[in-house]
Amino acid sequence: MNSARLTLNGNEFELPTLVGEEGEVGIDIAKLRGSSGAITLDPGYGNTGSCRSAITFVDGEKGILRYRGIAIDELSADASFEEVSHLLIHGELPTESTLKSFTSALAANNDLPKEMVTMIDAFPKDGHPMGILAAMMAALSTFYPDADPDADLDGVVAGLMGRAMSIAALSYRKQKGLGPLPEIDPSVSYAANFLRLSHAESGKEYKPSKVLEHALDMLLIVHADHEQNCSTSTVRMVGSSQANIFASMAGGICGLWGPLHGGANQAVLEMLEQIQANGGDCTKHMELVKDKESGVRLMGFGHRVYKNFDPRATIMKKACDEVLGELGIEDPLLDIARKLEKIALDDDFFVKRKLYPNVDFYSGIVYRAMGIPTDMFTVMFALGRMPGWLAHWKELRDEGSRIHRPRQIYTGYQARPYVPVADRG
Ligand code: CMC
Repeated sequence: MNSARLTLNGNEFELPTLVGEEGEVGIDIAKLRGSSGAITLDPGYGNTGSCRSAITFVDGEKGILRYRGIAIDELSADASFEEVSHLLIHGELPTESTLKSFTSALAANNDLPKEMVTMIDAFPKDGHPMGILAAMMAALSTFYPDADPDADLDGVVAGLMGRAMSIAALSYRKQKGLGPLPEIDPSVSYAANFLRLSHAESGKEYKPSKVLEHALDMLLIVHADHEQNCSTSTVRMVGSSQANIFASMAGGICGLWGPLHGGANQAVLEMLEQIQANGGDCTKHMELVKDKESGVRLMGFGHRVYKNFDPRATIMKKACDEVLGELGIEDPLLDIARKLEKIALDDDFFVKRKLYPNVDFYSGIVYRAMGIPTDMFTVMFALGRMPGWLAHWKELRDEGSRIHRPRQIYTGYQARPYVPVADRG
């Protein structure tokens, strides 16, 4: 098959088709409006391919997720977040020496200008850390106006990821009253440094537990990319106007924040706490979810693409059991989550709609075990997703994409005259 035929108002149009590396078929409508005058309408973009991409492959029916061809199960079990970041951004796993220089560049570029430290301090104490991260990411462009990813991609990437970690850690410290950021340790991983920058108390030695470091590394990897999701599409949208790299990342952070996307990890935890506070009655909560009038969703369930299982959720559930087991934590919220999952998997409402746990269903329980507060969960997702956003931003630039500018089907008034204020009824 190499073309599709469209009949519109008695006229026939031939549309080229294309087949991706994994066999997915697309109809190329790039010239449709020019030849037929018509556009397509696809609210929510469930049927629209916005680009060609060589970064991440997802097969929602089979529950497959691969970064640059490598399965997420392998990467989350064997690779480090630094390796995965390099893989996503550059397309290949790093050599030993490249990995070393990338890891030290991340540690060497985490300093924040003192004005930014003052700005972070000036936000309300309970201001949401995602608001702080988005604002500070955009603010980085004012301190580093000469950052040029075309001339020094690795330097800009290291500065962006390193400083994002410091902004996140500093907003956590502000919340907890822990004072200024401690020194970074260039000999340890990104995950260990995040834990250090967040938790180390002034004047005290701090060494994160290997269990937590490993778990955080895995969490960051599992979140690192997911093809054309809402936040990544936002990064591409903003980047397509040739806005700077910091502005593009700030756009991604804002897209991620919502509870239907990355903000679901916070919403899941709040849902579990609410069920616990109401006596732990999971059946009652599920009745509410199934009542479409209630507007209540089972947070951490369902996915636009995965209609069988989310491979990230499988990894996350296992990690949750391991981390809590190794730390000797018994979290009653985990029992509630397990009960909700069991009810959902046996209930026709969820089965018929192909709703399964997604990556966010169990991640919050692991973050909680690490001592990370609920409103920081989505920030953790953002730190993990940063290399994915950067990889997509680079891909967009490399292909010289046109500005993204969708069309619409207009549903408003037809032309009508202006009425002076004195004549309005
Ligand atoms: N609880 C109850 N019903 C649901 C849920 C849910 N979590 N998700 C979907 N449905 C129902 C929905 O009401 C609809 O029913 P009907 O056909 O009777 O109208 C049907 O399932 C299809 O839902 P949809 O809203 O058309 O699905 P979507 O592909 O537009 O939305 C989603 C995907 C993830 C936004 C949605 O499943 C959802 O809201 N889930 C809860 C929020 C969540 O966990 N988000 C995290 C996603 S994974 C992290 C990431 O973003 O990468």
